Amino acid sequence: MPPIDLTIILAATRDMGIGRNGTLPWTGLKKEMAYFARVTKRLPPSLSSASPSPPTQPETQTQTQIQTPTPIETQNAVIMGRKTWDSIPPRFRPLAGRLNVVISRSPDRVRGGGGGGGGGGGGVLVAGSLEEALGLGGGGGGGGGGGVGRVFVIGGAQIYGAALGLRETRRVLLTRVRSGGFACDAFFPVRLEEGEGRTVGWRRSAQAEMDGWVGQEVPRGVQCEAGTEYEFEMWERVD
Ligand SMILES: NC(=O)c1ccc[n+]([C@@H]2O[C@H](COP(=O)([O-])OP(=O)(O)OC[C@H]3O[C@@H](n4cnc5c(N)ncnc54)[C@H](OP(=O)(O)O)[C@@H]3O)[C@@H](O)[C@H]2O)c1
Repeated sequence: MPPIDLTIILAATRDMGIGRNGTLPWTGLKKEMAYFARVTKRLPPSLSSASPSPPTQPETQTQTQIQTPTPIETQNAVIMGRKTWDSIPPRFRPLAGRLNVVISRSPDRVRGGGGGGGGGGGGVLVAGSLEEALGLGGGGGGGGGGGVGRVFVIGGAQIYGAALGLRETRRVLLTRVRSGGFACDAFFPVRLEEGEGRTVGWRRSAQAEMDGWVGQEVPRGVQCEAGTEYEFEMWERVD
């Protein structure tokens, strides 16, 4: 069984703010959101040519049973906390083309998912913990029976914290929001910094390494959208 390899993906301010009042602190970052969608959907090179994904299921489909993709429907998995799931507009969840896994202590609280309700309905898996989620389908690591490519942890603060505590978490794809003025009440638990006082245990990857892992040429340098400046970064855990 190959080892599970987890990737955290997030956007954060300089002081690692990620959320405000249950939603994102910023609006209008369409290209950044498109990057998130592309990266989390793209299969690793070892799978992308061997088993192409079928057409994406319509988001309005109603399903009442927990579903895992068959091996031919290989998809990446996105794991999120229940509050992050709630923050996604119902018409956009489950996130298309990816196996959605929601962490909750009360599965009945997980609403929505294309019309299905509660307890894992609507094409979403519900797990009682991150560890249980990985057993459900992570990276070839358990009961999902294969069919899962990369495994991404997509937030929020509580689930990022849990993921950072696992050695399986090997990298962080960080969109660094450089513009100030975003008040936040949810924060990524580790401040990823270069240079003097750099973050112990983490190293910022070179652009070529990021391009290679992501599988595309990631836009370089400072990007600007809707008056907000940001930059794409990748960080890797150093043992
Ligand atoms: N900037 C970004 O990239 C980004 C990405 C994602 C989210 N966000 C933001 O982050 C904020 C949400 O973060 P959050 O920390 O408040 O919530 P969260 O991590 O999304 O979800 C928290 C919920 O997850 C479940 N949970 C957490 N730990 C658990 C455990 N050990 N075992 C079982 N279930 C567990 C609980 O659900 P139950 O209460 O159902 O038991 C808990 O209430 C929002 O503002 C959102 O917009 C930002």
